[in-house]
Amino acid sequence: KPLVFSGVQPTGNLHLGNYLGAIRKFVALQENNDCIYCVVDLHALTAQLVHEDMQTQIRSITAAFLAAGIDPQKHIVFNQSQVPQHAELAWIFNCVARIGWMNRMTQFKDKAGKDREQASLGLYAYPSLMAADILVYRATHVPVGEDQKQHLELARDIAMKFNLDFHDKIVPTGLGVDIKVGEEPVDAYFPMVEPLIDGPAPRVMSLKDGTKKMSKSDPSDLSRINLMDDQDAISKKIRKAKTDPDALPSEVDGLKGRPEADNLVGIFAALADKPKADVLAEFGGQQFSVFKPALIDLAVEVLAPMNTEMRKLMEDPGHIDAVLRDGGARARARAETTMNEVRDIIGFVR
Ligand code: TYM
Repeated sequence: KPLVFSGVQPTGNLHLGNYLGAIRKFVALQENNDCIYCVVDLHALTAQLVHEDMQTQIRSITAAFLAAGIDPQKHIVFNQSQVPQHAELAWIFNCVARIGWMNRMTQFKDKAGKDREQASLGLYAYPSLMAADILVYRATHVPVGEDQKQHLELARDIAMKFNLDFHDKIVPTGLGVDIKVGEEPVDAYFPMVEPLIDGPAPRVMSLKDGTKKMSKSDPSDLSRINLMDDQDAISKKIRKAKTDPDALPSEVDGLKGRPEADNLVGIFAALADKPKADVLAEFGGQQFSVFKPALIDLAVEVLAPMNTEMRKLMEDPGHIDAVLRDGGARARARAETTMNEVRDIIGFVR
């Protein structure tokens, strides 16, 4: 079975972008894959060191995973800090990755802002830890939103350089390492990760500006639908969402140059699990005054039960912590297998 890995940061409220770009895909992938889903609490330190509500944040992402339908028994759900092997491999990857590669990361440039000298070293090394998250399990498939694409390309570069640099250490399989990528026996230890970004909403945009990503950090709460929003809030935000004055087109091509319309149609399609073309076949020629109420109904239908379940789960933090502890133990065992091989490949004494 292919191995799927993905992570979500415990910073701020989860929103519809996180759900459609990531969590909804996590749920669907469970059927045919072996999945590991991680609350990346170490990553949460990169932008801000002290978090008064760290535990609540970790539990609330976990609650969202469970409420969305992730099965922590068949798969693995845990928080990153319980598996120190992530940080250990990240250190090795810090020595594999080149400063020039990191300098190209657009998310670092955005998040560091103007005063780059004041950004944490962790923020700079963030993509290296992300590569370690995935490769410490030698996972091959990574469901994410479009904003993570560049980070996954970097993970491939890191894997490739490691494989090349330790080429002759890997080839003699005296290490007991099964060096295969897919069915091909090749002299690679780390697989090339494949991003899973497709779907109708790989990049959910702000409800107030169709050219800006929906994000936790947008000062306007009207710009996003939070997974904890109640029915009234969802309805109000969609009613107030920016649109243009035209009717919806009948074909996907007609959405070009209409970012707000494109975004709302993409959200509808993702929530309904169908392509945008099907949504337009139904609503083409209709005004937003018809489309928006339908979108509100659909959003409430999908999000309300999840919202209720999340609240229920949050009332029993002991249960959530037990899920994370159990997932952490299983993840640790797998990660340690990889790290023993990596330690041998590098040539550490153990
Ligand atoms: P994070 O916590 O910012 O976001 C979690 C997931 O939500 C997706 N996402 C979106 N998708 C569509 N439209 C949007 N507006 C939108 N906003 C966020 C993100 O792409 C992501 O999939 N670096 C990652 C966490 C991470 C990770 C990993 C992911 C750490 N290690 C290893 C995959 C594999 C992040 O900050 O996601």
